[in-house]
Amino acid sequence: MIVSPSLLSCDFANVQRDVEMLNESNADWLHIDVMDGVFVPNISFGLPVVKAIYKHAKKPLDVHLMIANPDPYITSFKEAGAEILTVHYESCTHLHRTIQEIKSKGMKAGVALNPHTSVDLLTDILPMLDVVLIMSVNPGFGGQKFIHSSLNKVKKLKKIIIELNCNTLIEIDGGVNLETGTALAESGADALVAGSFVFNSQNPKKTISDLKNIN
Ligand code: DX5
Ligand code: ZN
Repeated sequence: MIVSPSLLSCDFANVQRDVEMLNESNADWLHIDVMDGVFVPNISFGLPVVKAIYKHAKKPLDVHLMIANPDPYITSFKEAGAEILTVHYESCTHLHRTIQEIKSKGMKAGVALNPHTSVDLLTDILPMLDVVLIMSVNPGFGGQKFIHSSLNKVKKLKKIIIELNCNTLIEIDGGVNLETGTALAESGADALVAGSFVFNSQNPKKTISDLKNIN
């Protein structure tokens, strides 16, 4: 299982310390949630903070853009250190062009789906995608309750990926803990994002290892 702890739940007064903890942990990627207060009803942080994280990170930055119209910022996120850049299906009118642009800058491309968006809508574009990020909460905040119907979306998407014989990874974001993580693994998830479950635990490194050992 790929584990991508979300820095949205870290201590923002000690970002360097928390990134170093993740460097020493079994985490695979660092999940970075960028929110603009327009696409989602919350503002998190932007490019300067991503650059600061990148300076200390020893793992790939998995950047999740929850912003309206991400196209003008693709090059800037590459320069800030993004290795995987995920945009929302719901915020891109010309998604195919956006994905081409992300890949042309040498990044892996991801598409995130809000809970109301069907995985069927990705069929035509799936062979281009490195990652599909299924939102198992409505995006905008950490610490929300897992939406159980997300398990069916994972199963359905896994089936389509196998039918199309593509290498796209299924990543899940929102309300992930050991219980939901186990159910997600059984449904076909390849990668788990976890924010509050990791950072609110007594021993975040152990929690990351526990998530990695699911399966
Ligand atoms: C929510 C973000 C998530 C968030 C998950 O909109 O995309 O990445 O950090 O937080 P938890 O794991 O606490 O649900
Ligand atoms: Zn996220």
